[in-house]
Amino acid sequence: MAAASRFVCQSCGAEHRKWAGRCDACGEWNSIVEETVSTGGTPGGLKGKKRGRQIAFESLTGASEPPPRMVTGINELDRVFGGGLVPGSVLLLGGDPGIGKSTITLQAAARLGMKGVRCVYLSGEEAIDQVRLRARRLGLEASPVQLAAATNVRDIISSLSAERADLVVIDSIQTMYLDTLDSAPGTVGQVRGSAQELIRHAKETGAVLMLVGHVTKDGQIAGPRVLEHMVDAVLYFEGERGHQFRILRAVKNRYGATDEIGVFEMTDHGLDEVANPSALFLDRRDQDVAGTVVFAGIEGSRPMLMEIQALVAPSALGTPRRAVVGWDSGRLAMVLAVLDTRCGLALSGHDVYLNVAGGFSVREPAADLAVAAALISSIAAKPLPKDGIYFGEIGLAGEVRPVSQADARLSEAAKLGFRQAVIPERKGRKGTVEGMSVMTVNQLGNLVDLIYGDDGRP
Ligand code: TYD
Ligand code: MG
Repeated sequence: MAAASRFVCQSCGAEHRKWAGRCDACGEWNSIVEETVSTGGTPGGLKGKKRGRQIAFESLTGASEPPPRMVTGINELDRVFGGGLVPGSVLLLGGDPGIGKSTITLQAAARLGMKGVRCVYLSGEEAIDQVRLRARRLGLEASPVQLAAATNVRDIISSLSAERADLVVIDSIQTMYLDTLDSAPGTVGQVRGSAQELIRHAKETGAVLMLVGHVTKDGQIAGPRVLEHMVDAVLYFEGERGHQFRILRAVKNRYGATDEIGVFEMTDHGLDEVANPSALFLDRRDQDVAGTVVFAGIEGSRPMLMEIQALVAPSALGTPRRAVVGWDSGRLAMVLAVLDTRCGLALSGHDVYLNVAGGFSVREPAADLAVAAALISSIAAKPLPKDGIYFGEIGLAGEVRPVSQADARLSEAAKLGFRQAVIPERKGRKGTVEGMSVMTVNQLGNLVDLIYGDDGRP
């Protein structure tokens, strides 16, 4: 049987007659790779060929012992992993350049190394001396982590076969290349090809593979969205440059809950865990300022309180400004429209600024009510009670809808010394929490009346 070539785009799978620099089907550059196929019969068809090996089928109830997880001892990290690293699993850790990916992976590897886990750290970006310098700064130089600066996947796999590692860190996957592919490192084909080879090797040996990947502006890991489905867990490291807080978020995890977050603080000796993020995001609340409220949110499995600030000011511009940091600008536009149409608060001539303090980014619709409270408080120039919290989703008709895990939100707030809450009505539940007075609103208008109080609306 003769061998023939076909040219397959590694990004979308389209087949081409001949090689081209750019795939017509998906527009990706440098993604077309030559593959050999044997001709005769349906390409790749099995009919009339050698029979395959028999596979043994099993029932769902079979006894399988889950292998023990590797626990780093960094609680914030272990929680995001789903309770430690599962042997044989592959993780992708994405984030902006400079956010702290190399730091957290080195910390994790060093901690595991000290517990007797054989760790290999392969850096494609930094020289060994740079990694050593960082380890010294982190106070981790005593850990028996094996270091190498390498980018050729063939060399890496040969060396790993000799090393018998339990954890392999690849920093970063965009610097790795397969010498069998023509395209440059960092291209879709190279990233996917290198990852595939490394994953295959890791699955064979049962090692944990941690792939570090850089993210582009729009929040996707550069080029290889394709990696996300090849790995067992995808973690993103987020944070604002100007703030020292870093959030590690699991967006996919075959061995744990997604949406789980770990909170860290970047210090001069590396990333420290933040065990009680609520207290941290609320630390500077000593004066009465209109437009500032506390939102009781849920991040993953954990309640978290944060401060939302709004500033509404008359605009000198024809089109007033709307600036949002840490929240969705589309949702702000919706809340403003509902306040305008359903509650008669005219905001069209005002600039609106909204900020989630501390550089945190809120994604829950449950923040609607807190945002609305901050806006109303700012327009009315009335500071809200300092010991109050808010949460609830707002609908287009101006209704306030219930949100999940209200009890967890309330008890976290009570624990941190909050004494009042304004929340949606809960069917069949009388909202009482020890030491806290809970007020329910079912229309946004109720909240407006509540804040304006005796003064009446404007
Ligand atoms: P790094 O882990 O190299 O980021 P990434 O791998 O995601 O590109 O982190 C680099 C930043 O972290 C750099 O700006 C310096 C800062 N940093 C500290 O503030 N303290 C430390 O102890 C370390 C190691 C880094
Ligand atoms: Mg790095």
